[in-house]
Parts: sequence; structure tokens; C-alpha cells
Amino acid sequence: MSANPPSPHGWDAWSYDARMSVVTRLGAGVLDLLEPQPGERILDLGCGTGHHAAQLADAGCDVEGVDASESMIARARALYPAVRFHVARAEALVVERPFDAVFSNAALHWMPAADLVAARVFAALRPGGRFVGEFGAKGNVARLRAALTSALVEIGVPEAALPSPWYFPSPAEYASVLERAGFEIELLHCFPRPTPLEGEDGLAEWYRIFAGDFLALAPPNARAAVTKRAAALAASSQWIDGRWIADYHRLRFRAFRPATDPVG
Ligand code: BEZ
Repeated sequence: MSANPPSPHGWDAWSYDARMSVVTRLGAGVLDLLEPQPGERILDLGCGTGHHAAQLADAGCDVEGVDASESMIARARALYPAVRFHVARAEALVVERPFDAVFSNAALHWMPAADLVAARVFAALRPGGRFVGEFGAKGNVARLRAALTSALVEIGVPEAALPSPWYFPSPAEYASVLERAGFEIELLHCFPRPTPLEGEDGLAEWYRIFAGDFLALAPPNARAAVTKRAAALAASSQWIDGRWIADYHRLRFRAFRPATDPVG
């Protein structure tokens, strides 16, 4: 796997594991869609702290995990020393031997250069290989984001200074991305998945762990107050029956690199 510069997102891998285990738990459905077979070579793209890669290894797959975050890969290696993990950016992915499948859960929304990523995944697969994944769809976390935007605007951050680090395409947009890369789509759909966040501070923690690019626009000593204010603003719609619910919308797909390249 080729080496790449580290991710611009400064991940707190320990907090991610301790507070956001829901990300791994809810990824179980997309693992089923992968239908991993013992002996298959599988790449977990955006593997985070490595839990899904380890499950694939336990299922008898020959698995490798890549993530652009050095801290995530350091934790994955510490947790699962028998699995091969690499720091690599999907946009520059180059593999030595092709994979039977590339799997990705809750990671592609951090990769806005979607055409480039799809082309690199296509090149990483053997003919007939599959790309199976799930990530945030159009409308994902729209309410959480609106509350955070309002809290930042209230302290004087201009709204125009709030570019999103996230890529949440519609099903039609992502189908076009896959097809431009050469994939044949077997399944692609989108669904709402209201997602509970643990604890009374669950939403503030979600902002702290995942919305660092937005919070960086506030002075360091104002960030805690901004997350608290954003949570207060989101409460009317997202504090439901005594717990925080994140307004997740997922896009799930299974696509194939054709077994033979098109002629001509
Ligand atoms: C998601 O899993 O949908 C997500 C996580 C963090 C930030 C944005 C979206």
C-alpha cells in the first residue's frame, strides 16, 4: 500500500471508540451485504480503529485496513496486531495485489473527491471484484449541522466561512460516480436511520469528535460553549424520550467491477 500524507481531520481515536461504538454496531448490516467468504482478499477502506477488519479476519478473510488518520491506524494496530493496517488516503490508493472486495463503512462521506476515490477502488479490485459500502446520504445530519451553524453564527462566525468537510450525495449522484468509474451497480439505496447517541452529553461529544472542522472556526476557549449551545438548539427535534437521536440518512450500495473490460 502506498504511503500518503495524514488526514487533515485530527481524530481522537480513543474518544471515537469510547463514545461512538454505535458506528461499528450499525455497520453490521453492510457487512452482511458484503457476504465475505473465507480466503477472500478484502480491503476495509476508511477502517477507523479496525473493528470491522478484525471481524473479517475472524471470518477467515485475508483482510487489510487503510485509513488516512495516523491515530486511528495506531489504535487499530494496538487492538488487532494480527491484521495488516496502513495509513493511506483513498484518493491516492495504490495496491500491490488486487482485492476480491473493497468494503467501506461510515467513511466515504469524509472523501469529497468521490470520482477519484471510486477510480482508485476500481483499480484496486480484480475483474469481477465488488465494492460494498455505506455512508451518509443527502440530508445526513442536516439538523445537527443547522444547530451548530446557528451556534457559530451567534458568536460572530460568518456563515460563508462554514464549508462542509462532508460529502453526502443523493442516490442518483452516487450512482453516476460509480458508473463513471466503470462499476456495474447491483444495489444502491438510501434510508433514514435515526441513531441514538449515548449519554446526556452525547450530542456535545458528537460535535467534539466529528465536527472539529466547524468548531475550529470558534476561538478555542469558546468551543465548549458553542457545542453546548448547538445541543440546546437541536434539543427540540433531537432529544427524544430522554436521549439524543442523530438524524442519520444512509446510502448503501453493492457494485461490481465487470469481469471483463469493455471492448474498444
Ligand atoms: C455519519 O456517520 O453519518 C457521520 C459521522 C460524522 C460526521 C458526519 C457524518
